[in-house]
Amino acid sequence: MSEDLTESATRPTGDGSTILRLEEVTAGYGAGLILKGVDLTVPTGTIVCLIGPNGAGKSTVLKTISGLLRPKDGRVLLRGEDIGRLSSRDRLDRGVVHVPQDRSLFPSMSVWENVLMGAFILKDQALIRSRMERVSALFPIVAARKHAAAGSLSGGEQKQVELARSLMLDPALILLDEPSIGLDPKARRSVFQSITELAADGRTVLLVEQNARSGLAVAHHAAVLEAGRVAITGTGEELLRDPEVARLYLGASAKGAAPAR
Ligand SMILES: Nc1ncnc2c1ncn2[C@@H]1O[C@H](COP(=O)(O)OP(=O)(O)O)[C@@H](O)[C@H]1O
Ligand SMILES: [Mg+2]
Repeated sequence: MSEDLTESATRPTGDGSTILRLEEVTAGYGAGLILKGVDLTVPTGTIVCLIGPNGAGKSTVLKTISGLLRPKDGRVLLRGEDIGRLSSRDRLDRGVVHVPQDRSLFPSMSVWENVLMGAFILKDQALIRSRMERVSALFPIVAARKHAAAGSLSGGEQKQVELARSLMLDPALILLDEPSIGLDPKARRSVFQSITELAADGRTVLLVEQNARSGLAVAHHAAVLEAGRVAITGTGEELLRDPEVARLYLGASAKGAAPAR
């Protein structure tokens, strides 16, 4: 079992530095707080997986990092700079991209046009072309289905195109919200494979996953969010072996079972 798990996550590509740190972050949508003091450290070049029950605030954490939501208190440190009060655009400029949970492609536009939209803040045509080439090499579907309407692709294919689009700005930090949700097992495997490749390519990935077993299996580090606070942290492998995590998030057969990937 342990061999399977350690093999599934590739070695971190980072230099041991911290790209992102949340310190005592509080946030909410109205008067009440959803995040009640979140502390989270994301080392550069790693995959960090955040799990937790529905409604715990996982998506809210990603929103406070990308700027869809401003924290009420606490700090969101990107390479030491507090970005918590910056606009989404300013955070994008600093290399933070957010791939939301819901399907976000423009269904009647082509795959190619959708991926190009990912470069909307760029002006340099040569740069855009070279990024398109690089992204198509990582995600072959972009070239293979170039002219297809994005809405005609399967859910798994659309997720691949969304990941491809998120790379057009050459992000340092990719926030992925439940990328495997609603996908069949084969499409799920290919999404997790892509996530592993993104990290191997030098990116940092903060992944929120409901499919905790697969998320933890590809993650270098992991955290459990419960009721707006980080309750447990460890390596992906440690959390997979944690009896409490297994009982609550991995289903009854978790103990000693091979990861379902
Ligand atoms: N736009 C919103 N307006 C008001 N409440 C929201 C909004 N989005 C989420 N919430 C509430 O915040 C809580 C945490 O939501 P969320 O971060 O989406 O949890 P998770 O992603 O862990 O399932 C939930 O109680 C949810 O109902
Ligand atoms: Mg969510």
